[in-house]
Amino acid sequence: MFDLKPAVAPTQKIRNVFAEIAHDSASKHVLGNANYVDDIPQPSKLLHCYIGTSDIAHGRITFMDLSKVRQHPGVVKILTAKDIPGSNQISPIHMNDEPVLVDDLVQFVGQPIFAVLAESRSAARYAAQFAKIKYQELPAILDIETALAAQSFVIDPQFLNRGDSQSALAKAPNRLQGEVYTGGQDHFYLEGQVSIAVPGEDGDMLVLTSSQHPTEVQELVAQSLGRPANAVTVEVRRMGGAFGGKETQAAQWAIIAALFADTTGRPVKIRLDRDDDMCSTGKRHDFLIRYDVGYDADGRILGIEFTHALRCGISADLSGPIADRAMFHSDNAYYLPDITISSYRCKTNTVSNTAFRGFGGPQGMVGIERVIDAVAHQLGLDPLAVRRINMYGKDERNITPYGMKIKDNVLNELIDELLESSNYLRRREQIAAFNSNSPIIRKGIALTPAKFGISFTTTFLNQAGALVHIYKDGSVHLNHGGTEMGQGLMIKIAQVVAEEFQIDLDQVKVTATNTGKVPNAPATAASAGTDMNGMAARAAARKIKKRLVKFVCKKFAVDKTDVRFVDNHIEAGKHEISFANLAEQAWLGRISLSATGFYRTPKINYDPQTMSGRPFLYFAYGAAVSEVEIDCLTGEHRITRVDILYDVGQSLNPAIDMGQIEGGFVQGAGWLTTEELCWDDKGQLRTHAPSTYKIPTCGDIPEIFNVKIWDKGRNRENTIHRSKAVGEPPLMLAISVHSAINQAIAGKLGGDQLPSLNTPATPEAILNCLSAGDKE
Ligand code: MTE
Ligand code: HPA
Ligand code: MOS
Repeated sequence: MFDLKPAVAPTQKIRNVFAEIAHDSASKHVLGNANYVDDIPQPSKLLHCYIGTSDIAHGRITFMDLSKVRQHPGVVKILTAKDIPGSNQISPIHMNDEPVLVDDLVQFVGQPIFAVLAESRSAARYAAQFAKIKYQELPAILDIETALAAQSFVIDPQFLNRGDSQSALAKAPNRLQGEVYTGGQDHFYLEGQVSIAVPGEDGDMLVLTSSQHPTEVQELVAQSLGRPANAVTVEVRRMGGAFGGKETQAAQWAIIAALFADTTGRPVKIRLDRDDDMCSTGKRHDFLIRYDVGYDADGRILGIEFTHALRCGISADLSGPIADRAMFHSDNAYYLPDITISSYRCKTNTVSNTAFRGFGGPQGMVGIERVIDAVAHQLGLDPLAVRRINMYGKDERNITPYGMKIKDNVLNELIDELLESSNYLRRREQIAAFNSNSPIIRKGIALTPAKFGISFTTTFLNQAGALVHIYKDGSVHLNHGGTEMGQGLMIKIAQVVAEEFQIDLDQVKVTATNTGKVPNAPATAASAGTDMNGMAARAAARKIKKRLVKFVCKKFAVDKTDVRFVDNHIEAGKHEISFANLAEQAWLGRISLSATGFYRTPKINYDPQTMSGRPFLYFAYGAAVSEVEIDCLTGEHRITRVDILYDVGQSLNPAIDMGQIEGGFVQGAGWLTTEELCWDDKGQLRTHAPSTYKIPTCGDIPEIFNVKIWDKGRNRENTIHRSKAVGEPPLMLAISVHSAINQAIAGKLGGDQLPSLNTPATPEAILNCLSAGDKE
């Protein structure tokens, strides 16, 4: 579709990219041989620590006696705020608004106040309960509405505006107001928060942790110790899932372990129990979204106003960019001519919410998808028809509210194809026929698209580094700033490097992310891991390749146009030399076989003051059709069929990408249907274990699940082998499930008012909607 040169020259034999290659650790994952931090053989003299936390939501500490904790058998030491030699801060954006350990003011239930070090983890954990702490309680703000009324914010409200929404609304022939509340979501990574700190000489510290952001852990550990960054090395081989929950929130635990390791001179491990992990680490932000929309008789939106209020918890953490991304995705795939979005970042006495797959995008999209459903319902139209009439155009109606021109819109073709393959129109008729004869089991179907902006909206974060060595035997050592959390980043980058040298993939060793090898990396986040690290690694490989070509030219007296890397060897005119032999020859010839590579995302420029410009290099696109059944007596639902078509550009590894699409979708469906976070009126999270918090399991995946990578996909931008990001966007395709459930309820209730089903659509929520209809 786009004018592209073939990515691989026809003479090349080895196909490392575009191939279905298993995750580098797949068999280790399955056999239980993949080492996570807790599996690393214990260093000698290892000590264990645990945290003591607040059991009130807001108050000042008036009395604290930890002597009983200290006296418990096995306890070695206690750490409180005043014992921290350097800074007592974990704010990722230098806001100084969140301490490692509470000094005086307690701000949420579960906030760490002190830490205990002991000979065993169970001793540390057990001892923590003997603390005697008294508080002077203060009034607590626990939810969005209360925070809004009190104007309690972690950062200033933001406004994004194009045109004149007020007069567009006033002039519009039809107008509708409503609201939708989207619940939070626990990351429920299988591996919880964990770190080991190993002290070295001269105050140095090695930290092995489960973090998406080793560089930030390095900085914050160094600051807490009062040392420069070069005293601290952070290493991450892999995480057992992260999903955004380890973008900022791994640092606190690493710091506690490092502080203990520093004062005792012994290695220290911390691993949070699941319940404590759920109470003491942040989640996806819940949002209250209000809308006011004006539209014509066909459902075309003429003017719209959104108000977002999100629960940030006690501190800013990443709430600013998350709230911004929600604003940037309030349009999803639709052209909204006159628009105002207001965003209120509410401060509450609950744990500080953080990044979660989609980073505010999903919440913003739920808002507009609800608007479209409501408009369609009012007009008695198929919501798909209203979606299509509002879609961004190719050459007109193609500018986002933040002023970015969309040049790569493929949704119209992609949806045409999905409509065909999913048989949407026919099935919609069949469902209507079924429903007319089925009072209890009701079906619903919905198609929703997703358009997701790729790049960190914080422009300076869009940089990456890599380090490549070739050893004398021709084996390759690969390192880069990205981290592996199960998403398949390492294998993809190894594919890129193997492709560059035209060697077998098993010649490239994937190594742990280490701040000593590649410095100053951003978090692996924003789905940009492969885009950025792939380019950096290729740049490093190309540097070495260039040196090798020069060496070969001299050695065989050939021109560089005669040198080719093919199938584990190098052809130079009539000469041929194996890659391994060349490495050795080059070494003997004193050629450097090591290089760094660097990449900065081009073309982006964005002004946070005016919220305008080009925050994203490109957009990822996809669409899904979901069919559901609800039981009107119990409120339960089943996802009976899902068809997904997703544009991953030219897929570097379709096996990995399929996993991301399926997994992202199911995680999104969990967020929107079963995963419910309940806090009581004291601010205590009541759903802090799998017994009360229901994540999807294999029984919850759609009964028919047709997932397809779009075969026409190409990235219009010059990304690594023209691939596209895949980590987060598929999660947002699950909005179709929620919409389908709401359609099913609407069909049962009749009338032209769409039910106001919030998320998650638990049986209780579905029954409440059904019975609200009964009362009217
Ligand atoms: N997939 C797995 N298996 N585990 C994870 O923790 N995190 C998601 C996504 N896919 C995650 C995952 C999130 S939130 C992001 S931002 C991307 O992976 C990050 O990796 P990438 O940039 O390499 O896609
Ligand atoms: N996505 C994920 N993480 C981030 C972003 C973003 O856009 N900005 C800052 N951290
Ligand atoms: Mo992902 S939420 O950007 O870590």
